[in-house]
Amino acid sequence: MRDKAIITSALPYANGEIHLGHVASTYLPADVTTRFLKQKGVEAYYICASDDFGTPILIQSEKEGKNPSEYVAYWNKRDYEDFTAFGIDFDFFYHTSSSENIKFVQYVFDKLNAAGHIYKKEIIQFYCNNDKKFLPDRYVKGICPYCKAEDQYSDLCESCGRVPDEISNPKCAICGSIPTKEKTNHYFFRLKNFEDSLSKWLDKNENLQKDVKKYVQNWIKSGLVDWDITRDITWGVPIPLGEAKGKVFYGWFDNHLAYISSSIKFLDEKGINGKEFWNAADIYHFIGKDIVYHHYLFLPAMRLGIEEEYKLPDYIPTRGHLTLQSKKISKSRNWYIGLKEFLEYYPADYLRYYLVAINPYSQDDLNFDWNDFTTRINSELIGNLGNFVNRALGFTKKAFMGKVPEPDEFDDMDKDAEIKIKKMSGEIETLMEQNHLDRALKKIMEFSSFFNQYFQHKEPWKKEPGTSTCVYLSVNAARSLSILLYSFIPNSSQKIWVQLGLQGSVKDFKWDSLSNLEIKPGHCLGDVSPIFSKVEQDETEKYKKQLGPSE
Ligand code: MF3
Ligand code: ZN
Repeated sequence: MRDKAIITSALPYANGEIHLGHVASTYLPADVTTRFLKQKGVEAYYICASDDFGTPILIQSEKEGKNPSEYVAYWNKRDYEDFTAFGIDFDFFYHTSSSENIKFVQYVFDKLNAAGHIYKKEIIQFYCNNDKKFLPDRYVKGICPYCKAEDQYSDLCESCGRVPDEISNPKCAICGSIPTKEKTNHYFFRLKNFEDSLSKWLDKNENLQKDVKKYVQNWIKSGLVDWDITRDITWGVPIPLGEAKGKVFYGWFDNHLAYISSSIKFLDEKGINGKEFWNAADIYHFIGKDIVYHHYLFLPAMRLGIEEEYKLPDYIPTRGHLTLQSKKISKSRNWYIGLKEFLEYYPADYLRYYLVAINPYSQDDLNFDWNDFTTRINSELIGNLGNFVNRALGFTKKAFMGKVPEPDEFDDMDKDAEIKIKKMSGEIETLMEQNHLDRALKKIMEFSSFFNQYFQHKEPWKKEPGTSTCVYLSVNAARSLSILLYSFIPNSSQKIWVQLGLQGSVKDFKWDSLSNLEIKPGHCLGDVSPIFSKVEQDETEKYKKQLGPSE
């Protein structure tokens, strides 16, 4: 672990609302990790931006009669608000259409071009004589040549998931007329040049997930294909060549460069040399498994192509997709739950807890299930954690007027409990560093459950000898829990902190201190009340109907 870190998560398209699927696989794991690194004393920054360019966005804005910059500005703001409500705490949220990114993208292109990694080639492209436009990607609809599904975009068949070489029965997606084929000059990035260097980089980077590395290596072995990085549309970063007037970059050429350009802007404005910081930091890119190709090949190749002026990522934590009630999320089929809406019904921490708990560090999909959500919140968050904290603090209030007593001698069980507190920081830290957030959370909950049983077993309400030791240790365990849980459920963790009568904000307390018994005899607790409230099964049923998805 370096003492500096930049954390990014896949940039959301400025093209519709954030849903549970988005946050589960990228934004939440990245947020939890950043909060943890900050607790560890790492100078860490979580940088994100909206992904503004590309054909789908242009088409959608045209459909809504807006100009594309207005359209993306709306979604940039809305997405940021939704993330914030969920406790996703970006240090900076920018946009790929920023002047800084445009400049940076053009700079990278010029450098790649000068180094011989770009070439021009004439290609044939659909053209609409009615709209007087070239029709890339989603501008053409037709029949999938593989599975014969109708009404599919030319760049992806949603029915079979394949990318058609050429769509059958092509129609202009704007006016429906039959397009012609015209010649146009496109620029290509020589991805092929990087087969060896990419393979070497993958080999030596121990921090990347082994299974992902393996299939990326297989792609390389079967041969990489040069990338067409050009679009004949009006919405994008202009290609900085006199001969390329009216042409822009493909969205996947410019978007990931905003990881860098946004970081540099943010850091430079803070008075930190952005480039130096980037190159001295651990670089994390959190992504979902659908964009492995782009992040394990295209993005590193472009950085290799500019001689690693900005270093390659150290970590690319890649996770599977969220399914809803075991079915694939689909906006067009209305099978999704909007983040904003969900948070009108349930506290952010309930969702954060659940989505981390069910989310392994792997490519496996994870499933949101309403009943499972209700059960786990009630039994784990409330029955275990909430119950322990409330009992320990409530009892201290009642029996000792809120003042932590001087402990008596420690018996074996007390000694065991003390060791648990002392070992916790190291154990959880290892799991967090390995990105096993779900396992870390599970262990924290086991710690809480241990103290629940300890408290139960000691029966302090009987006021026998040993009572004050039990209270003393339990109150300290609650403090440890508050620090341990901060990155997962920050609001609830702060509530525990305040009820413990501790000053300031839990986030300012360094990780390592969680294993000290820092609450001393004589310390006075704050006001105590239940941290969570139960999720009622019949309410779940009601919300489930209101929130959808509808079957
Ligand atoms: N907007 C893209 C998506 O949702 C992700 C872009 S990530 C970046 O699939 F690296 F390219 F920025
Ligand atoms: Zn047309």
